[in-house]
Amino acid sequence: MHKASSLSELGFDSGGASSGFFRPVADGCPPATPTSSAAPHRRLTKVSVIGAGNVGMAIAQTILTQNLADEIALVDALPDKLRGEALDLQHAAAFLPRVRIVSGTDAAVTRNSDLVIVTAGARQIPGETRLNLLQRNVALYRKIVPPVAEHSPEALLLVVSNPVDVLTYVAWRLSGFPASRVIGSGTNLDSSRFRFLIAEHLDVNAQDVQAYMVGEHGDSSVAIWSSISVGGMPAFKSLRDSHRNFDEAALEGIRRAVVGGAYEVIGLKGYTSWAIGYSVASLAASLLRDQRRVHPVSVLASGFHGISDGHEVFLSLPARLGRGGILGVAEMDLTEAEAAQLRRSAKTLWENCQLLDL
Ligand SMILES: NC(=O)c1ccc[n+]([C@@H]2O[C@H](COP(=O)([O-])OP(=O)(O)OC[C@H]3O[C@@H](n4cnc5c(N)ncnc54)[C@H](O)[C@@H]3O)[C@@H](O)[C@H]2O)c1
Repeated sequence: MHKASSLSELGFDSGGASSGFFRPVADGCPPATPTSSAAPHRRLTKVSVIGAGNVGMAIAQTILTQNLADEIALVDALPDKLRGEALDLQHAAAFLPRVRIVSGTDAAVTRNSDLVIVTAGARQIPGETRLNLLQRNVALYRKIVPPVAEHSPEALLLVVSNPVDVLTYVAWRLSGFPASRVIGSGTNLDSSRFRFLIAEHLDVNAQDVQAYMVGEHGDSSVAIWSSISVGGMPAFKSLRDSHRNFDEAALEGIRRAVVGGAYEVIGLKGYTSWAIGYSVASLAASLLRDQRRVHPVSVLASGFHGISDGHEVFLSLPARLGRGGILGVAEMDLTEAEAAQLRRSAKTLWENCQLLDL
């Protein structure tokens, strides 16, 4: 593990430097250090981010600015890039809440995490099939997940790498954690894109628009039109009544625009980062602060909406999140067409998972 900067090389004494500057009050306790038995009474919150690429760093910096963690551990396979990213964040210390930032290429740096977010992933090589990419990412997860689970056996595991639904299943199997503690970022971001489009159209704040995309994070995701409400009022009927052209083809066009949002950004800037950073930070806030907010995230979906109990697949459904992870999944009132689409996605995902030899 790299030290952020070599203070002793710069002439600073290594141990107890603050004792020369501050004196304890009379009859006071000895100063607490993070490892001493007199450590602070409040348990510190630690978040680890595995993969310090575009997505991992956007997540880390959003979590940092939203003051969601006392310690952030960054892990990447590239030591120089990793050290550069860690130093760059540390240099913002004067403008931020006090957060300890540690980094390392070894999972040991994640020890005792409350939340581990996995963004490490191989990129698609031109011409490579999705299945081949998936197999490379599974090989990566075999290296990453078991040691992370060993170092933080009580942690919540939040998977972001793509294909997120299959990799959430892989992380669940490799970690041995209960399904309630393994969550995929799923369609939380897709739903935000959906809400943004509706909010732009109605000229309202997207936070006042409720609307869910569920199912697979990807081409087959399902827009739940009946879930749209604005300021608490169901809005789909009035949208339909006021738009003569709001037929099935138009709805499919909007769904495709939501799904295509990621491809558009990647085509323009090469990757997505800011929106996924905020999306994952919103999940981290709900989990770590026990907010019990409802988010569409990738969960073990067997038994929901006619998905076979025997098919262990993860896909996105609206779930109540808290400090224990997935506290429950909302029973949505789906049309038969929506439920059938969910079952089709579940079947494809399950078939993919069967090819993985886990
Ligand atoms: N779920 C979502 O909504 C969503 C949104 C955006 C991106 N993503 C996915 O997030 C992933 C990361 O995207 P990115 O743009 O940051 O890619 P990136 O290439 O910039 O970053 C990936 C990082 O993983 C690191 N890495 C590789 N192997 C590692 C290992 N064994 N241990 C630790 N780190 C390792 C790489 O060095 C790299 O820094 C991709 O799979 C992408 O598809 C998901």
